[in-house]
Amino acid sequence: MTQKIIITGWAWFIGSNFLNKYVLLNKEIDFINIDALTYAWKLENISNEVTNAPNYFFEKVDIRDKEALREIYKKYNPTDIIHFAAESHVDNSIKNPIIFTETNVIGTQNLLDCHKEFSLNRFHHISTDEVYWDLPNGWFFTEITPINASSPYSASKASSDLIVKAYGRTFWINYVITRCSNNYWPNQDNEKLIPHFIDLLKNNKPVTVYGDWSNIRDWLYVEDHCDAIWEVFTKAENKSIYNIGWNNEYTNLEITKLILKEMWKNESYITFVEDRKWHDVRYAIDATKIKNELNWEPKIKFENWIISTIKYYLKK
Ligand SMILES: NC(=O)c1ccc[n+]([C@@H]2O[C@H](COP(=O)([O-])OP(=O)(O)OC[C@H]3O[C@@H](n4cnc5c(N)ncnc54)[C@H](O)[C@@H]3O)[C@@H](O)[C@H]2O)c1
Repeated sequence: MTQKIIITGWAWFIGSNFLNKYVLLNKEIDFINIDALTYAWKLENISNEVTNAPNYFFEKVDIRDKEALREIYKKYNPTDIIHFAAESHVDNSIKNPIIFTETNVIGTQNLLDCHKEFSLNRFHHISTDEVYWDLPNGWFFTEITPINASSPYSASKASSDLIVKAYGRTFWINYVITRCSNNYWPNQDNEKLIPHFIDLLKNNKPVTVYGDWSNIRDWLYVEDHCDAIWEVFTKAENKSIYNIGWNNEYTNLEITKLILKEMWKNESYITFVEDRKWHDVRYAIDATKIKNELNWEPKIKFENWIISTIKYYLKK
């Protein structure tokens, strides 16, 4: 029987990078790609080679609509799912929190219900390091760090992690969860920090950094994240959780200065704005488990690729 993987939320950043690589590498597997094409999509993020591939299928479906999902499951008879779809922008979650619960929590639960009803094999839930909340310097999140949340975004992701675990235990659903740090480059749209700042500076506008600029994030090249997802999806044991990251910690100020330097601009372009409410100060991943158990290591060095990233957005 042909393996048929549902991919949700492929039409913008991480999902498009995943499909651009793995559809072509796995011609014997069908990829049933569903996306609501919310404000966050760009079909041109998927290469023509992929959209023309015989194992690529696209359906416009909103994961909040369970009946529409059931029709897709009946039509394609899928075997597994990798679930990327989410409302993903923290600032939007502060302006309009309810849609984060509807998409990230109820949407995930709808998919779990379909998974159960149509007896699929693996449910791979794409989560985030933001479910762990905040860390003091010198500490790292491991997979057994209790989940916690500060923004409506992280609360909705943490809730969806719990629902996946509960369905695993109650209904014997075969699941894996991956929690990755901040991703950068291809196809990331300009609501996120790096492309947003480049866009502003290109137009000679100042960049506004939250609070005292000391927020630390752990940056990972998106292709490394996609490769880790594939390793976990294909090799991990049922009910396992893996952190994905590379101890690539940079403050937002350091990232901003790097961008300014590459764009030959001085620091007068920086302005302070009031911090987000409850802005988490530091996320830092301990990825020892995935390295030891699945031999996954990131390949793309931040120091080299951040420069290519800036050059790419400058040319756009
Ligand atoms: N971007 C990061 O740095 C990062 C890091 C760790 C984890 N993640 C997680 O990875 C996943 C993908 O993140 P991203 O940055 O690519 O997000 P994105 O916002 O770029 O893409 C999300 C996709 O989901 C789709 N979508 C949204 N609501 C939907 C709905 N109701 N029904 C169907 N499709 C819907 C959108 O149209 C879009 O194509 C998310 O689950 C996110 O929490 C992201």
